[in-house]
Amino acid sequence: MIKFKTTLATQSRFDSINFNDLRFGIYFSDHIYVSDYINGAWTEGEIKPYGPFEIEPAMCTLHYGQALFEGLKAFRSVKGGVNLFRPYKNAERLNKSAERICIPPFDIERLIEAMKELCRIDYKFIPTKRGNALYIRPVAFGTGNFLGVHESDTYRLIIITSPVASYYPEGLNPVRIMVSDTYTRAAKGGTGSAKVAGNYAASLLATKKARELGYSQVLWLDAISHQFVDEVGAMNIMFVIDDELITPSLENGTILPGVTRDSVLTIAREWGMKVIERAISIEEVISAHSQGKLNEVFGTGTAAVISPVGVLGYKGKDYIINDNKIGTYAQKFYDAITGIQYGELEDTHGWILHIEV
Ligand code: COI
Repeated sequence: MIKFKTTLATQSRFDSINFNDLRFGIYFSDHIYVSDYINGAWTEGEIKPYGPFEIEPAMCTLHYGQALFEGLKAFRSVKGGVNLFRPYKNAERLNKSAERICIPPFDIERLIEAMKELCRIDYKFIPTKRGNALYIRPVAFGTGNFLGVHESDTYRLIIITSPVASYYPEGLNPVRIMVSDTYTRAAKGGTGSAKVAGNYAASLLATKKARELGYSQVLWLDAISHQFVDEVGAMNIMFVIDDELITPSLENGTILPGVTRDSVLTIAREWGMKVIERAISIEEVISAHSQGKLNEVFGTGTAAVISPVGVLGYKGKDYIINDNKIGTYAQKFYDAITGIQYGELEDTHGWILHIEV
């Protein structure tokens, strides 16, 4: 076990947190992990109080966005201690994102150990309420100061943690999603499958416009034909047509390989459901809707968990799905995944990394 140099906070942020109204990502725990890449290697890193750090105006990431992030959750297990859900999947994806934008890979065991240590030190920040969790956010970015467009030679990796409720204020209630046939999120050969900051910056304008029209988020279509469904940006998307579970495949490299996506597909296959990862056009979705075969649409993501889609807005028309109610499958997947996360259901897949506190 790595023992990180640790400086404990002298003042806690705990009392300023409204645990009855957590929302997503507005509160932060007392400590942060920081490691720097200097002289060709990542330092072991240290844990210190959460707080601002100084940057130079010429820091390359501010100008050219050489930054990535991850998101995973820690839960209070009903059996005591803390459960991290599939942290190795996130750690591996972090290094894949890093490769895509020329950030040197991070030692996976050290990353996991840093997350575990933050959970131990800031244990009291892990919400007790069912449905809430401690969201763990690793971020890595270039720290070089220059204006030429090239990769940095120094980097910083930080991990912050945030007690959260579910991503959408709706919780498990259905959300309204607008299909964007104007803007695109990612093209083949681009960075769509990497969790890099620029993908999210590129999504802001379309999302803002969708919000102004009363939708929560945008469903992105492919960049070339604007026909095939990609993802929502904060979550992957799944359709239940008849009794088949259909979701866009990862093969084009334009969507994020979601950890919750993988978990849902795994569970669905175990339940004997027909699961198909393939290209699915928005016209097929609308046609299934008009034939009464589109039984459910839901998003999957770490922050969103399972988010039923009650309304799909496309070309000025709203398509109501499953009477705008939580679908049977959405509810079942939510119960199965959260049951494992909180230690209520047996973890038959080895998805939980348990931390004694
Ligand atoms: C997550 O689900 O962890 C995400 O990163 C989505 C969003 C908060 C950006």
